[in-house]
Amino acid sequence: MHSNTLVGLLAFTAAVNAAPQWGGWGPHGGNGAGSRSSVQNMKDKIKNVVVLVMENRSLDNLLGGQKIRGLDNPINNGPFCNPLNLTNPKAGYACSQASDFDSVIDDPDHAVYGNNIEWYGTFTPDNNAISSGRLQPHMQGFAHEEIRSYQAKEANHTFLAQQVMNYYTEEQVSVLTALTQNFVTFNHWHSDIPGPTNPNRVALHSGTSAGHGANNFAYGSMMQRSIFQELSETNHTWKNYVTDTSEEDALWFNWTYTSGNTKLVVPLANFASDAAAGKLPEFSVIGPSCCGVGTTSMHPQGLVSDGEQLIKDTYEALRASPQWKQSALLITFDETGGFHDHIPPPLAARPDDLTYTATTPDGSNYTFQFDRLGGRMPTWLISPWVQKGYVEQKGTNSDGQTASYAASSMLRTLGYLWDFQPFTPRVETSPSFDALIQRTSRSNTPKILPEVYKW
Ligand SMILES: *[C@@H]1O[C@H](CO)[C@@H](O)[C@H](O)[C@H]1NC(C)=O
Ligand SMILES: *[C@@H]1O[C@H](CO)[C@@H](O)[C@H](O)[C@H]1NC(C)=O
Ligand SMILES: *[C@@H]1O[C@H](CO)[C@@H](O)[C@H](O)[C@H]1NC(C)=O
Ligand SMILES: *[C@@H]1O[C@H](CO)[C@@H](O)[C@H](O)[C@H]1NC(C)=O
Ligand SMILES: *[C@@H]1O[C@H](CO)[C@@H](O)[C@H](O)[C@H]1NC(C)=O
Repeated sequence: MHSNTLVGLLAFTAAVNAAPQWGGWGPHGGNGAGSRSSVQNMKDKIKNVVVLVMENRSLDNLLGGQKIRGLDNPINNGPFCNPLNLTNPKAGYACSQASDFDSVIDDPDHAVYGNNIEWYGTFTPDNNAISSGRLQPHMQGFAHEEIRSYQAKEANHTFLAQQVMNYYTEEQVSVLTALTQNFVTFNHWHSDIPGPTNPNRVALHSGTSAGHGANNFAYGSMMQRSIFQELSETNHTWKNYVTDTSEEDALWFNWTYTSGNTKLVVPLANFASDAAAGKLPEFSVIGPSCCGVGTTSMHPQGLVSDGEQLIKDTYEALRASPQWKQSALLITFDETGGFHDHIPPPLAARPDDLTYTATTPDGSNYTFQFDRLGGRMPTWLISPWVQKGYVEQKGTNSDGQTASYAASSMLRTLGYLWDFQPFTPRVETSPSFDALIQRTSRSNTPKILPEVYKW
């Protein structure tokens, strides 16, 4: 912790010294992320970016058992405990424990208000206290909210609590363990919005959910500019490889229909054949299937093992491709799905002036201002150009500030790679990760990842 603070101070000091060169959306002088030399290095090395967005898992849940140094998780720094009842300490506690289920039965609450009670202990935290820093998330309400949500069907409160507090061992997620030991894992990567899938998937590709905080909107309804439109209009190539109709991210945007580009949303099987033929576009987005038994996104009640198989297949197809040497694969999640994580999500710039209001389970209304990040999620940067087994801490944004990475860090970095401006202030203030691309490539990246754990 202390060394992190020191690194942060040093980064900040360096930024202040370089102050006249900062600002604006393009690369700046100085050193590190977003600097002209770092961005040029990335442009020289990386021609193809592949993004795989899984579903609904927090870092403490999925990577809680990874022993690699630098990852702040239950096995290294825990256990972390939650009361079973926020207002009645006598009900006892549940603590993070090794070994989780291949599939969690009772999908945790991850509505905006669900995240509120999990982090702040109330469905309706005081927004002014949050934005002034007086109210900090305590991350104590995960077990309580799981019990409140499911106690009518499940009498065993300990069993319910374990579904949100437990974590996977290295052995249980053998594929993820291999990725962690071979590539870069982010210790501080958050979803853009403390809410469910659709707003987060939209924000990942456009820098805003256009005021949406729930899943209640349709494909084609998003009118804002997306990465897909940006790339097409600047003669860059992209495809959205999808398993079924559940995660077709390019289809959120109205432009994809009106420009006649729905043809770029293609079946997942094409990813392996395009990779083998060296015909991957510059930007590939892979959609897993969601969300029940037999789907691959790791979303409850889909199996974690089926998600591991998709990750293994994706990696091995890219690794075998003639394009591997110029590729970067970003594997991340849409949001944390209501699973426990002990790191309080930070405040962040509002993307626009829109708000979202929902009626909570206790009948009150909560208005969200999109001024803070969602929970911390597993995210890896995979490439022959990244360091082996490296855990990245916080980043530096283009204002020279130390900040947690967010889903918007993807657009910030791709903007440097392909010369486009941040779509929103949220994207503009998110740290880019170009500096993780090294000057020399590695020859020791695995061709094959371990077999998926058999439960
Ligand atoms: C927590 O305890 C209070 C007081 O005993 C009780 O009224 C409430 O129903 C409990 N909440 C849950 C989720 O069990
Ligand atoms: C409740 O669940 C826990 C954890 O799964 C288990 O150890 C315990 O035996 C269960 N208790 C009862 C009464 O079934
Ligand atoms: C795109 O926007 C137009 C104008 O609002 C609307 O008429 C059309 O239905 C939208 N397309 C889709 C696929 O939703
Ligand atoms: C994209 O390509 C078209 C056709 O070659 C050309 O007219 C246009 O100027 C290009 N646009 C950009 C931004 O390079
Ligand atoms: C919450 O908002 C809804 C929709 O605007 C409104 O109908 C309802 O009266 C509000 N409830 C409270 C308690 O303010």
